[in-house]
Amino acid sequence: MAELADIMLSQPPEEPVRIDVPAPDHVPRDLIYDLRAYQGQLPNSCPEPYAHTERLRAADIPPVMWSPFPATWITSGYWVLTQYKDCAKVYQDSATYGSHGQADFQKLLGETFKCIPLSFDGAEHMSYRRFLNPWFTVKAVAEMDADIRALCDEMIDTFLAQGSGDFAYDFARVFPVKVFFNLMGFPHAVLEEFLAWEYDILHSRDFAKMGAAVAAVLAWLRDFIAQKELQPDDSLSSKIVNGQIDGRPLTADEKIGTMFFLWLGGLDTVASTLGQMFRRLALDHALQQRLRDNPALIPGAIEEFLRVQPLVFSFRQLKKDQTLHGVAMKEGDWVQALTSVANFDPGAFQCPRDFDPERKANRHFTLASGAHLCMGAHLARQEMKIALEHWLARVPMFSIAEGDKQEVLPGLLSVSHLQLTW
Ligand code: HEM
Repeated sequence: MAELADIMLSQPPEEPVRIDVPAPDHVPRDLIYDLRAYQGQLPNSCPEPYAHTERLRAADIPPVMWSPFPATWITSGYWVLTQYKDCAKVYQDSATYGSHGQADFQKLLGETFKCIPLSFDGAEHMSYRRFLNPWFTVKAVAEMDADIRALCDEMIDTFLAQGSGDFAYDFARVFPVKVFFNLMGFPHAVLEEFLAWEYDILHSRDFAKMGAAVAAVLAWLRDFIAQKELQPDDSLSSKIVNGQIDGRPLTADEKIGTMFFLWLGGLDTVASTLGQMFRRLALDHALQQRLRDNPALIPGAIEEFLRVQPLVFSFRQLKKDQTLHGVAMKEGDWVQALTSVANFDPGAFQCPRDFDPERKANRHFTLASGAHLCMGAHLARQEMKIALEHWLARVPMFSIAEGDKQEVLPGLLSVSHLQLTW
C-alpha cells in the first residue's frame, strides 16, 4: 500500500487514477481515486479549462468515489459526488448532509468558534442569515453601485494610461477586495497584508503557512472588533459587533465567527471568477465582440461565466448512514459536491460544454444552492457586471500579451497573472 504523504507531494495525474492508500474499512478499495486534477489542483492552458472534467462522466468512472487527500482541516478523506442530482441533494437536503464547519480553518489553531453562517443548519442558521441579510440584498447592493463604478473606472484609468497591464494581479485581485473593505470599514492601508494572509490560507496548501496566516487574521480582526465596540460607526463590521440577533447581543465567538467567515468568502471568490472571465474573453474575440455589440447579454453572460468556471467544491458531513449508487456511506463521513463536473451535466443543461449567454434556467452550483446559497451573490454578480460593462466600454478589444502564459487552475486558485494588451 502506498504512503498518502508521498502521493500528496506528487503532481496530480491527468487521468482519474485508482490508488492503493489507507481508507476507513467501509470504503470499497476500488472507489479510492486521485481526483486532484478535477478539484482544481493541476494547471492547464486550454481555452476551456474545465474540458477535462468530462472524463469523470465516462461510463468506466463511478458516480461516487473516495478521495483520501486532506482538504481544509478535513484529514479523514471524503466521498466525491459528480452527478447534478446528487450534488443538488447535498446542497438541499440538510437533514442528511450537515454543514458542519468545512471552512473552519481556525480549527488548525485549536480555536473552537464556528464560521457564521456557513457552519450552522436549521433555525440557528436562519437567525444568522436574517441578521446579515440586510447588507446583502439587491437594494443594499444597489446603494453601493455608484461607488463600485467609480472605483472600477479609477482602476481602468491606470490600465489605459499604461496601455497594457496584468489584469489578474492588478485588477481582479484588488477590485473586489477594495469593495469589501469599503463595506466592512477596513482601513485600506492593510490591503496588501490582507491579500498576503488570504493567499497563504487559500492558496499555499501548506498547513504551517495556513495556520500562521489564520492566527494573524484572527489577531487583526479581534483587535478591530475591540475598536468597533468602543467606537461604533456605519460600517458592516460595526453593525455585526454592536448588533443584536433575536433580541440579544452577539457573543465574542459569534462576532469573530461572522467577521472571519465574511473575510474568507468576500476576498478571493470574485477575484478568481474575474480572472477566468477575462482570460476567456481575451482568448475568444468573437464572444468579446458579441458582448460589446449587445451589452444586454451581459447579465446572462455573467451567469454562464459562473456556470462554466465553478470555484468552490463544497463539503457536507453525513448526519446519518446513506446508500448512494449502491455505495454505503456512514454517518460522520464527509462528502464533496464536485461542481466542476455537475455544472456540465447534460441532464441539467442542454449542450453543457457550450458557452451560451442566452441560456435559460441556468441553475448552476457555483454560488451553491439551498439554504446556504451564497449570501454575497448579488454583490458578486454586480461587481462582475460592472467590471465587464466598464472594461468593454472603455478598453478596446483585448488579448493576452504575446509570450504570456495562459495557464489557469480550474478552481479557486484560478489565474494569478494575466497580461492584457489592446
Ligand atoms: C463569484 C464569487 C463568489 C462565489 C463563487 C461564492 C461561492 C459561494 C458558495 C459555493 C457558497 C456555499 C458554500 C457551501 O454551502 O459550502 C457561498 C456561501 C457564502 N458566501 Fe459566497 N461566493 C462568492 C462571493 C461572495 C461574496 C462577495 C461574499 C461576501 C462579501 C460572500 C459571502 C458568502 C456567505 C456569507 C456565505 C455563507 C452562506 C450561508 O452559509 O448561508 N460570497 N459562497
